[in-house]
Amino acid sequence: MASSAGHLPVMLDEALAMLEVRPGGRYLDGTVGLGGHALAILEASAPDGRLLGTDADPEALSAAGERLAQFEARATLRRCWLDQSAAVVADTDMAPLDGVFCDLGVSSMQLDIAERGFAIRVEGPLDMRMGPSDEREAVTAHEIVNEWPSTELANLIFEYGEERRSRRIARGIVERRPIATTTELAQAVVDAIGMRPGARIHPATRVFQAIRLEVNRELERLAAFLEQVRGMLRIGGRLVVIAFHSLEDRIVKRFLSEQSTGPTPSFRTLTRRVMRPTVDEIERNPRARSARLRAAEAI
Ligand SMILES: C[S@@+](CC[C@H](N)C(=O)[O-])C[C@H]1O[C@@H](n2cnc3c(N)ncnc32)[C@H](O)[C@@H]1O
Repeated sequence: MASSAGHLPVMLDEALAMLEVRPGGRYLDGTVGLGGHALAILEASAPDGRLLGTDADPEALSAAGERLAQFEARATLRRCWLDQSAAVVADTDMAPLDGVFCDLGVSSMQLDIAERGFAIRVEGPLDMRMGPSDEREAVTAHEIVNEWPSTELANLIFEYGEERRSRRIARGIVERRPIATTTELAQAVVDAIGMRPGARIHPATRVFQAIRLEVNRELERLAAFLEQVRGMLRIGGRLVVIAFHSLEDRIVKRFLSEQSTGPTPSFRTLTRRVMRPTVDEIERNPRARSARLRAAEAI
């Protein structure tokens, strides 16, 4: 996943088409990351389109800043969590927006830097925080892995990892404590449930996903963010979300189906069926494999 191909923005053509990016448009990219999608949005909205890019991760923002420097005042970057982005938009002169975009999950940079503790196969500390390390409220992966009671750990792995063997894994982790690094955690999982020969994904993938979602409260923030989006958009403005696993996608799907039905709908769903990347794109960029795109228009 953390290959150089991971730097390619996922489902880019589909995202631009669904956002209906146009010259002069104003857009929010709520997970600007390394600025791949943002750059394309700025190009497609030239000469005078504007983009506000936000991200929880200060390191992502500085990478995006370098990449988007050529656009000068057309690009504005701010550090915040998704569920704080409405307040940040309100603080600019950009609302109402023509489009709101997000491409959820971890960036290839976060996976590539061992110290961030996101990668299964690279030895690093158990961290997984997307936000700045001095954020007071944040728990780290280390705390969850080493301090949570076995039952709570099992529930987390079951719920956020959608992993059936959660109890066995949680017991294996507890027996192995103290666990200091990502690779030790991955090994504890392998020892608990084994390694299927020829398996496409590492057996600890779901466990890492579960811990990461909890550390960053990603699902909670996504749901809160979606509730704020209608208030940021003009009528006819577009919402486009790329999710990478069924938990995220379910939240987007439920939100859109609730908001597009009933007596006072606020969105019209544009993707009756979820959009998936083409076989070609998956070949070029394996990270795209699990992407799911949904889009809607504000009404
Ligand atoms: C997949 S990357 C985005 C990549 C970007 N579209 C690009 O082309 O370079 C996801 C980014 O979203 C950020 N992120 C994920 N969940 C977030 C949340 N709830 N609030 C703020 N940022 C979040 C991560 O820090 C990461 O930088």
